[in-house]
Amino acid sequence: MRIFLLGGSGRTGSLTLAEALSRNHTVTALVRRPDALPSQPNVSIITGTPLNQADISNSFASAPRSDPIRVVISTLNTGRTSDNPWAKTTSPSNLMAESVRNTLAVMKEHGVKKMVVLGTNGVGSSRANGGWLFNWIVDHSNLKVTFDDHYEVQKLLEAEAEKDVDFKWVDVRATGLDNGEKKEVKEFGNEGKGVGWFISRKSVAGFLLDAVEGSQWDRQTPLYYMEWQLTVCAIMNTEVLHKGSCHCKKVNLEVLHSPDIELSECNCSICSMKGFLGFVIEKSALKSLQGEENLEVYKFGTGTAQHMFCKCCGISPLTVPRSYPEGYNINYRCLARDNVRSINVTPRDGQNWEQEMAKDIVGKH
Ligand SMILES: NC(=O)c1ccc[n+]([C@@H]2O[C@H](COP(=O)([O-])OP(=O)(O)OC[C@H]3O[C@@H](n4cnc5c(N)ncnc54)[C@H](OP(=O)(O)O)[C@@H]3O)[C@@H](O)[C@H]2O)c1
Repeated sequence: MRIFLLGGSGRTGSLTLAEALSRNHTVTALVRRPDALPSQPNVSIITGTPLNQADISNSFASAPRSDPIRVVISTLNTGRTSDNPWAKTTSPSNLMAESVRNTLAVMKEHGVKKMVVLGTNGVGSSRANGGWLFNWIVDHSNLKVTFDDHYEVQKLLEAEAEKDVDFKWVDVRATGLDNGEKKEVKEFGNEGKGVGWFISRKSVAGFLLDAVEGSQWDRQTPLYYMEWQLTVCAIMNTEVLHKGSCHCKKVNLEVLHSPDIELSECNCSICSMKGFLGFVIEKSALKSLQGEENLEVYKFGTGTAQHMFCKCCGISPLTVPRSYPEGYNINYRCLARDNVRSINVTPRDGQNWEQEMAKDIVGKH
């Protein structure tokens, strides 16, 4: 896949370029100086600045038709007189936001729908976790210009996703960057609670590519808006929006659930006939159910379970299970797989229902 890279001449940017090539991607890098990057196979170097929209347009236009740009990564940073983060700034205060704004406009022209940016811990929802001293230092030093610019980038990405449901973005909020070796990256969620102080640039480069290739960190829809930045350095067990439907698509649903799904294959009389592969959720996790009027309910036995199916196509995207009538049993076979990272299927002995009842159902199916 061809990646458009902004900031490829920088410390994290050059490692991100190397990581992309090691994963067999091709890269178009827009850099200010033609000698900023060595010429090498699978890299197209375009000279220009992201502050000039025409330079970005040229970059997109230069990609071969057989290998167009599909995704953007930005590792831009505020320009400074030295690598010291406190050094005097040399770039416009809105370098990153203006570059992202220009890039979004060109992405739109070319139908490119994903952008991954390197942000920083301490911005937006992770600010509170920074602590008063850290925030005071940021606010009273020339770090502020970088933090404010990152925040503007975040707002631009959010606004774009509000306008275009297909637009996907990940803002990777790294903690302090060092030049150590690549290690496993852990995530700490949007607020960064418990995050450590440092992460290596190599680890961040790997994570940026993980975010490019995977969809588990993408923001999916403005309807169920969540801030979707990651503070890299710890584990985040974040739920994602899974979309599904019946066969004729008269019934559509959205379920908020982990990308890792524990499924149960029940051998009861109806599940085995239907081939229902289910996972039970709380009702609140069903974020939308469109076309409910097309659902017919079939009941038998105690009548507790509501076996819902589409009147048109007969497919059952969800039921109200007898074992947990406060929730829903979602039919995994009706879900889109984009946001599924893993599944684990456990047989469920629905023929001996009373014994199964003793088990904790929600989250385990
Ligand atoms: N340092 C940390 O501890 C830390 C922690 C968390 C997050 N971050 C974030 O990580 C990101 C990357 O940091 P880094 O240290 O890898 O960056 P860096 O080495 O400073 O690289 C900055 C990049 O931005 C480009 N750039 C700067 N001014 C520009 C301008 N006026 N016009 C066009 N391009 C310009 C540079 O191009 P040239 O080569 O042409 O100058 C370079 O490619 C930053 O956004 C930073 O805020 C840093």
